[in-house]
Parts: sequence; C-alpha cells; structure tokens
Amino acid sequence: MSVLDRFRLDDKVVVVTGASSGLGVAFAQACAEAGADVVLAARRADRLEGTAGLVRAAGRRALTVATDVTSPEQCQAMVDAAMAEFGRVDVLVNNAGVGTAVPATRETPEQFRSVVDINLNGSYWAAQACGRVMQPGSSVVNIASILGLTTAQLPQAAYSASKAAIVGLTRDLAQQWGARKGIRVNAIAPGFFESEMTDQYADGYLESQSARIVLGRTGDPAELAATLVWLASDAGGYVTGQTIAVDGGFTIT
Ligand SMILES: NC(=O)c1ccc[n+]([C@@H]2O[C@H](COP(=O)([O-])OP(=O)(O)OC[C@H]3O[C@@H](n4cnc5c(N)ncnc54)[C@H](OP(=O)(O)O)[C@@H]3O)[C@@H](O)[C@H]2O)c1
Repeated sequence: MSVLDRFRLDDKVVVVTGASSGLGVAFAQACAEAGADVVLAARRADRLEGTAGLVRAAGRRALTVATDVTSPEQCQAMVDAAMAEFGRVDVLVNNAGVGTAVPATRETPEQFRSVVDINLNGSYWAAQACGRVMQPGSSVVNIASILGLTTAQLPQAAYSASKAAIVGLTRDLAQQWGARKGIRVNAIAPGFFESEMTDQYADGYLESQSARIVLGRTGDPAELAATLVWLASDAGGYVTGQTIAVDGGFTIT
C-alpha cells in the first residue's frame, strides 16, 4: 500500500454532525472525495440536502438525518438510520457546535447551558451511539477549537469551557476504547476559518487577532478537511487521544 493509499476512506461510512453549513460541509465533501459514503446530520434538513448533492457529485452515497445532537435519543436514531442504510459506521466527525460571546456577569444560565449542551453533551451522545456499533479500526474526530487551548479577547466562557472539555472527552474516550475496542479518538482545534459562525464577529475583530496568526491569514476549510482525513484514515492509525491545532500558528503566540 502506498503512503497516499493510507489516506483513502474507500467504502467507509462517515457520520458528520453539523453538516448543514460551514466546516461540516467541507468535511463531508472531503470524506466523499476520499471514497466514503457519508451520513449528514444537523437540525436544518433542507440545508443537508445541499451537502448531500456535493457528496453524490463526488460519486458517493449520502444519507441525511435531521438530528438535534442535544437529544441522546435523536443521536441514537441517527446511528440506527446509518446502520439501516449502510450496515456500518467507521468514522464520526463530531462537528456540530455553536459559538457565543457574552460577558460572564450578564450570561444567563440558559445561555451557558445551551452552549455546553450542544458542544459538549451533544458530542458525547453522538460518540456513545457510534461507539456502540463501531468495529475495530474505526475513528472519532471531535472538533474542538483554539478557544479550548487559549483565549482570543472575547468573553466566551461557555464556548471555551465546552471546547476545553472536548479535549478531555477526547483523551478519556481514547483510553476507554483504544486496546479494548480498537477505536481511535482524536480532536482538531481549528483556528479562524470563515463560516456562518465567524460571520457573527463584529467588524474589525478578525483583523485585531491577525498579529497572532503566524501564517498571516485565515484558514481554508480544505486545509482543515485534509487534517480530518488524515486522522480518520489509516494514515493516522497510530495517533489517538490527541488534539491537533490547525490554526496557522495562533496557539504558539
Ligand atoms: N469556523 C471557525 O473558525 C471555527 C473555529 C474553531 C472551531 N470551530 C468549530 O467548528 C464546528 C463547525 O462550526 P462552523 O464554523 O462550521 O459553524 P456553522 O457554519 O455555524 O456550523 C455549525 C453547524 O452545527 C450545527 N448545529 C448547531 N447546533 C446543533 C444541534 N443542536 N444539533 C445538530 N447540529 C447543530 C449547525 O446546523 P443546524 O443549525 O442545521 O442544526 C451547523 O451545521 C463547530 O464545532 C465550531 O465550534 C469553528
């Protein structure tokens, strides 16, 4: 097998949560280009159909499943639908997430809980449901954030705490499922990539952070998706429990 063959995901089944916009679309498309069939999950079913079109254009099968990841039952139903359609789940990309910025003394319990419920709890419910059916050789990739590792001058207690928790969740699931189940669990900590989430930044915010980006530019989602394919595939076969920053160098400054 050549080294490039190790990056292929031929005939694997990849579940991508948050596949209705932004990075989830790039992840789904990249996995299809690498040879996988893709299960697309998020709340906006109409938007999932657009992503499904990209997967099919790459010559692979797509299944859309309207899913709110805050519901353990809906996460289980998503995996049940994947098993009914494809008979296996090889990779979970835990990408669904929301970002907020609220000063700590003004943040309501509902605001804080909602971010943790989606970003952290939702990732765990999806991982649990996939972990029950995954066979040895499978892989989970959790999408954390540089905000789980450092700060970026916005009031983001809920987001940062949820993403730091993803780093811990990744370590723990990796040690639970490594030798026993043959499932690798890793995380990616993205820096700044344009999406509906980053569209919410106030004018001038990204520019204010640019001095900390060693490569001097925001990221291209295709660069993030390439790291995902590495971690999801046999190319990352001896990597587990790690959080890989893909951030143009932001976290070294
Ligand atoms: N873009 C960046 O620069 C950046 C940097 C660091 C980390 N990240 C992380 O990357 C991930 C993707 O973010 P993005 O930038 O691509 O933002 P985005 O375009 O806003 O996408 C977020 C996705 O999450 C889904 N989602 C939100 N709540 C959900 C729920 N309860 N159940 C199911 N799906 C839900 C949304 O779909 P529906 O609304 O249809 O449910 C959407 O598909 C997030 O985890 C984010 O924290 C992004």
